Formats: sequence, structure tokens, C-alpha cells
Amino acid sequence: MTNPLILGIETSCDETAAAIVDGERRIRAERVLSQLAEHRPYGGVVPEIAARSHLDHLDRLIAETMKAAGLEFAALDAIAATGGPGLIGGVIVGVMTGKAIAAVHGKPFIAVNHLEGHALTARLTDDVAFPYLLLLVSGGHCQLLIVEDVGRYRRLGTTVDDAAGEAFDKGAKLLGLGFPGGPAVEQAARAGNPKRFDLPRPMLGREGCDFSFSGLKTALRHRVIGLTGESAELGPRDRSDLAAALQSAIADCLADRTRNAIALACARHPQIDTLVVAGGVAANGAIRASLKTLCEDTGLRLIAPPPRLCTDNAAMIAWAGVERFRKGLTDGFDFAPRPRWPLDPEAPRAIGAGVKA
Ligand code: KG4
Ligand code: ZN
Repeated sequence: MTNPLILGIETSCDETAAAIVDGERRIRAERVLSQLAEHRPYGGVVPEIAARSHLDHLDRLIAETMKAAGLEFAALDAIAATGGPGLIGGVIVGVMTGKAIAAVHGKPFIAVNHLEGHALTARLTDDVAFPYLLLLVSGGHCQLLIVEDVGRYRRLGTTVDDAAGEAFDKGAKLLGLGFPGGPAVEQAARAGNPKRFDLPRPMLGREGCDFSFSGLKTALRHRVIGLTGESAELGPRDRSDLAAALQSAIADCLADRTRNAIALACARHPQIDTLVVAGGVAANGAIRASLKTLCEDTGLRLIAPPPRLCTDNAAMIAWAGVERFRKGLTDGFDFAPRPRWPLDPEAPRAIGAGVKA
């Protein structure tokens, strides 16, 4: 069937989400409920709180989404739910709910890899043709991948320590900014001078496409301590300048590693003409701007889906469901939720020294 109607469910981190998407790339309805307020007092996502909150809200959210689309479950062709990777309690809630709806209404169930959801979003928003290069930058992941087809990915690089979003979140904590850190750092950086403090750019200029951010975090901590001593607070000027320096260092690292990935990807698939950036960090204006410059330099087109489809959402899961359904890729009710689920199981481990061909 070329125009399936799919319900997507996302519960792998701290967003509870449901969406209905069709084969003509239309989002018929979508709902996203952020748990930020519940996790904020702890300065990060607490897995038990996340799982309980998904359980409390998911059924109602799905019912609201169906109602907004004006659809009954009987009209759907399949139910897709994030099957991993992610916080396992939340993934179990989404998978069990998806299987239950599928079983009751006699529909196929599709377990979607959350990363595949991010990876295929550009086909929902911009109808991008395979193959293309993807920079996936979120709170949990920092990867460069060639997206060759549905279910076929080649990872060129990944992080050896923190993800880019984690670097923002941990940096924000050191600067006394709120959670989540990315938007807070971007906001503070607007008033800052990125050149006042010279922060390191780990891996810059090295071969390969792996990332590292922990040295940057340590350097930032030393700067903060140097300015304040262990206890005093940063002043607003210092905070803005450090936020701008942090953002600019992360943007430079991402652009440098992506430049290497463009060379590798185009050597492998000369027809690649598009770089897609996805994941929560792709919402960052400075990062988008530096990737735009990189693309202008290298003759690629940059596709960055709108921020609400870059951060976690269920439209991307429903869309991955559409793509899998078209290929006959459905799953049995014995599918077991997966806390870890690499897109490219063959990929070499990140060792910071590049990638095997
Ligand atoms: O994709 P996402 O919503 O969830 C994960 O799957 O991780 O990404 C969340 C991450 C957080 O680390 C957050 O700080 C970061 O994306 N983020 C940003 C911005 N908005 C969200 N980082 C930098 N600048 C932003 N504007
Ligand atoms: Zn995500």
C-alpha cells in the first residue's frame, strides 16, 4: 500500500507523544507532552519519573490525537511505537500500549528505532531522496551516518564520551543556567562575546568523524573556577561570554567532523548532495549557521527540519512506520523493547582515530 495511515507513539525519553501520519507526508494530528517541569528540580531526566508519567498520560494523549484527526482505530493501517533505544521503562510503556491497540483492532505492530525516526524525518518534511548524510545531534546521541535506505545505515562517526546535547546540558549546569541546557546556553550566548574565552575544540583537525566533548566541559569548569573561586556566582557578563564560547566551540567541533564525513560519504556515494541535521541540538541557530557555511563551501544542500520535528516527537515515529510498512517490515507481538539499538550494528567502535572504510 502506498498511502498507509499510521499511528506513531514516542515514549523513549522525557516526551510523551502520539501522531498520525499518512503516506502523502501529511501529519493528520499530533500531540507532544513535555515532562520538563517534572524533571527540572533534579537537573536532568529521572528514568522512574519519566516511565510513570508516560503511563499516566499516554492513553489520553492517543485518544486526543485520534479525535483531532477525526479517526477511529479501525481506519489505521498499523501502529508504530518506539522500540528503543532509550530509557527502558518508558519504552516498555509505549511498546505495550502500541501492541495492545494493534492486538485489539487486528492491526500490524511496527517497532521503530528512535534513531531511525530522527534519520527519516527529512523525508517527511522535505522528501529527501536516499542516500544522504545525516548529523544526528541530541541529548543522547552524536553521530554522523549515511542514510542509504530504510533500515540501511552506515555510521561514519560517533562520540567517544558525551553527546553534543549533554555538552550543552552539563555546560549550562556549570554556568548556573537552567535545564535543559541547550536553549539556555543559546539564549545567554546572544549577549556574549565568543572570543573572550578560548575553549578547546577536542578532535579538531583529526582524521575521521568521531566526536569528544568531555575535555571541553573540563576546560569550562576551570574557567568558571578561575573567575569565581569554588563558591561565588558568575556575573551576567562572564556567564554570557562563557556561554558564547561554549556554543562556538561545540559548533566548530560539529562542523569540523562533518566536513570529514562529507568527504567520506561523497567518496562512497558520489550522488550525495544533501546534509541533514536532526535531533534537539539542531534547533541551535549558531550550529545551523556554521553547518550552512560548511554546506556552501562543499556544494551540499542543508536540510534542517523545523525545531519541533528535530526534538523528540511522534510524527517521526509514525513516518518511520509509514516507510517500514511500505516495505512490509512489521514486527511480531514478541518484539522485546531494546535499551540499546544501534542503527549500524557493523560500525566500528569509536576510538577517536577515524573509521574503517
Ligand atoms: O532530540 P532531543 O529532544 O532528545 C534526545 O533524544 O536527547 O534532544 C534534547 C537535547 C538536550 O540536550 C537539549 O539541551 C538540546 O537537545 N537542545 C539544544 C537546543 N534545544 C535543545 N541544544 C542547543 N541549542 C538549542 N537551542
Ligand atoms: Zn531523540
